[in-house]
Amino acid sequence: MQEKLNLLNQISDELNKDLNLDRMLQRVIDLTIKHFKAISGSIMLFDEENRISKYILQRKDVSDARAHQIVGQVLTEGFAGWVLKHGRGDIINDTQADDRWYTFPNQPYTARSVIATPLTRRNRVAGVLTINHSEAEHFKGQDLSLLNAIAWQAAIALENAQLFRQSEAERATLSAIINGTQDAIVVVYGEDHKILLMNPAAEKALQVTPDNWKDRALDSVTHLNDLVALFNSSPLSGGELQLSNGHTLLTSLIDVPDVGRMAIMHDISALKALDKMKTEFIDTFTHDLAAPLATIKGHIDLLQIDGPLSDLQLEDLGFMRMAVDQMRMLIKDLLELTRLESLKSLYKTDIALNSSLKKSFETFKRMATTKNIEFSLHANDSKAITRGNPTLITRAIDNLIENAIKYTKPHGQVSLLLTTSGNEALIAVKDTGIGIPAKTAPQVFDKFFRAHAAEANEVPGSGLGLSIVKAIVERHGGRVWVESKVNTGSTFTIALPIHSNGSAT
Ligand SMILES: Nc1ncnc2c1ncn2[C@@H]1O[C@H](COP(=O)(O)OP(=O)(O)OP(=O)(O)O)[C@@H](O)[C@H]1O
Ligand SMILES: [Mg+2]
Repeated sequence: MQEKLNLLNQISDELNKDLNLDRMLQRVIDLTIKHFKAISGSIMLFDEENRISKYILQRKDVSDARAHQIVGQVLTEGFAGWVLKHGRGDIINDTQADDRWYTFPNQPYTARSVIATPLTRRNRVAGVLTINHSEAEHFKGQDLSLLNAIAWQAAIALENAQLFRQSEAERATLSAIINGTQDAIVVVYGEDHKILLMNPAAEKALQVTPDNWKDRALDSVTHLNDLVALFNSSPLSGGELQLSNGHTLLTSLIDVPDVGRMAIMHDISALKALDKMKTEFIDTFTHDLAAPLATIKGHIDLLQIDGPLSDLQLEDLGFMRMAVDQMRMLIKDLLELTRLESLKSLYKTDIALNSSLKKSFETFKRMATTKNIEFSLHANDSKAITRGNPTLITRAIDNLIENAIKYTKPHGQVSLLLTTSGNEALIAVKDTGIGIPAKTAPQVFDKFFRAHAAEANEVPGSGLGLSIVKAIVERHGGRVWVESKVNTGSTFTIALPIHSNGSAT
């Protein structure tokens, strides 16, 4: 009894020691053979379709090719096949008198008695363990119980090894993807944001010595305080990170449930450089255009003075003046936009938005009346105070009102509303105008984009007004968006952070 327990313990130790399947099974056979004083033994493993996926023979003097032949044959004609088919173990007392035993010609040893049992997991025979002895009647009934116990342990270990191998393979695939990607990835965990993972792209971007970050707090590993701040933001927010080598990384952050937080950083330096080139180009181009336009305008005026001109000629000059004015407006807008984008800092003060809206309302009252549009103002919220540049904020509001009146037909309505929600002041410019098709709505804030090809011909404009609004609002830490329905109307909303007791900037 003690001896059996010792064997089971020993086998259990072997099985837990190593997750390498081959070595593990080899040790199980060796120990079992030794215990039964047998001459040989084997373990065969089957896949889901009962094909042999692995076989381990105890006898080292059998060649691979021969071993392959043996297992193939015993499975179709021999005892192992019988065990697989019946799903239980058994003993052959004398192989010469039992036709379940298949004897190979030239077999280097004689097996007279055999004991075999299945390795069963989840009602499936995953393998067969067989032990042979040279004398008949060597195995007893209780030997089968012991072999069953060994097989039971081996089957569990087998499943663990397979699960381990499977998860190892999945881990290796994931790790290859994460390590191979060009985007920098950092994953942190815990209150103090210890680093769980940093891929080579992140090590390079943050100039961290490879493999010198595991479980260290992020702020002790990198000097990039902006990244540390992004990880601490609540709610999590992304943004652009400026590296000391001049590169810019567009960073997005996500919460990974049960793990921590992850940052994915994409290098947008090339795009930034392109954008800068474009801005510089527009800047020079618009400057160079302004001078000749001024000359043209001057000469149009001179022509009138030099007269006399016929009515038709005067009418033509009127059109020319209008076209020149339109071009000068376009240049002014372009210059303003590039200036806004490149301006490092802005003069800022506290702005009571109800006063700003009132001012804009007065500015556009006449234009609305002339076009026969009902124009109203609802701006009583005195808590709506933001910190910003008053000229620019008024410019943004004016651009929205101008559009609302421009893109609304006579007898329509335009209203201005000021409300607060949480930490934000909301300025809504609502009209009952021509609306914007849903699929083009996100583009209206792009430079030079005009949503209505047909109307655009009648309504003058350069498609820059909303880009200016967006640039101004974003410079003030706010957002702008549109909700619209064709032929029903549009509502453009600007959200700006409320500045109360110096809490917002
Ligand atoms: N209130 C609105 N209703 C319907 N369409 C609008 C409205 N506001 C803007 N749009 C659409 O969005 C486009 C872009 O507007 P944006 O103000 O940028 O340019 P614009 O008005 O065409 O020219 P400008 O540079 O003179 O402002 C417009 O051409 C128009 O098609
Ligand atoms: Mg406009």
